[in-house]
Amino acid sequence: MKKILVLHGINLNMFGKRDPEHYGTTTLKEIDEQMVALGKELGYDVECFQTNIEGEMAERIHRAHQEGIAAVIINAGAWTHYSYGISDALGILKTPIVEVHMSNVHAREAFRHLSVFSHVVHGQICGFGVTSYRLGLLAAHDLLQAEGRS
Ligand code: DQA
Repeated sequence: MKKILVLHGINLNMFGKRDPEHYGTTTLKEIDEQMVALGKELGYDVECFQTNIEGEMAERIHRAHQEGIAAVIINAGAWTHYSYGISDALGILKTPIVEVHMSNVHAREAFRHLSVFSHVVHGQICGFGVTSYRLGLLAAHDLLQAEGRS
């Protein structure tokens, strides 16, 4: 079974407790459960990983390269806006990458409008709460289907 990796970055372990106006009340564990369940429906083994440590995130992405992960869904939290290290790590992967955000980052502070991952991801989904993650998985599935057809 193909494997999809869902990556959560800095502060995202606090979903459910943090800033409900922007992030709702669903916990990270519940998001992960939804992703695993949707992945199963679509025929994927979904692994979820969260860290607050940038180097650990880079190392998880390096391992994904070795493991032949089929696609990556990433919400890197604030790293999205400034981490060239994570951006370069993602750039090593040859697989589809979908960037997701719970909140509509473009309707928030200016520093959130920039993603330093834009050139290495296939696309970005933001503003739909947990649905952003679900849409991210569907987008990755479509990309993988299209790859299979070519
Ligand atoms: C976020 C948006 C980021 O700007 C913020 O730093 C986060 C969460 C989101 O999911 O909406 O931590 O990635």
